[in-house]
Amino acid sequence: MAKKINVGALISGGGTNLQAIIDACLNNSIDAEIAFTGSDNPGVKGLERAQKADIDTFVVDYSHIVQSCKKGINDTDLPEDFNLEEILSKQQLVSTDASKEQLSFFLKSRAIAEKKLLDQIRAYDIDLLVLAGFMRVLTPYFIDRVNTSPGKYKIMNIHPALLPSFPGTDGYGDTFRYGCKIGGCTVHFIDYGEDTGPIIGQKAFEIEDNDTLDDIKKKGLVKEWELYPQCIQKFADTLN
Ligand code: GRF
Repeated sequence: MAKKINVGALISGGGTNLQAIIDACLNNSIDAEIAFTGSDNPGVKGLERAQKADIDTFVVDYSHIVQSCKKGINDTDLPEDFNLEEILSKQQLVSTDASKEQLSFFLKSRAIAEKKLLDQIRAYDIDLLVLAGFMRVLTPYFIDRVNTSPGKYKIMNIHPALLPSFPGTDGYGDTFRYGCKIGGCTVHFIDYGEDTGPIIGQKAFEIEDNDTLDDIKKKGLVKEWELYPQCIQKFADTLN
């Protein structure tokens, strides 16, 4: 039997993708096990799903952190290894039209939260980090500290649209409003941009003329639950 890879998961909400991955691990349809589930949001259903499956959980409360940053960020609040110029030169998340002040607040407040995520994650030896409905962008500060082998991506995300169409937070909504006749989902690696990293797998579904946005979301989620475990297995195969 192939060696199981160790997977960490980050979520923000209901965690139905997380559940699909937990189920695939438990019924041995993928060579993986979940080491932990972290959330940026306290009290979400996904955390309960993980606890029910005896998986360690933690919360890094982003809203709370960003609120306290709004009162002012001192240099001593920042991670010791944070270098604003370096992160500014790498980041592709925020347009350079944004004011330097806005951009530096964004990157500093995220790095403070990301350092807390890293402190939790470093307690585990993971092969792969999956974002399963994690609704926060990750900056180069975090990405570079997870992707420590040059050229090797270690963070995967699931996006509710057929990338490169409809990046951003509302893939199914954008698909619906555009009047597409085909919708879909994409699993891709995380790079410095928003939903721009290399594509690992995609699944599509047909949209009928009378489908509502809700119908599209339901059809999409069913595809996501199939696709994510398959992509994790694809990754595991590259290590085994
Ligand atoms: C999914 O549609 C995923 O593509 C998107 O957020 C949703 C999360 O759903 N990023 P769940 O928390 O896995 O149920």
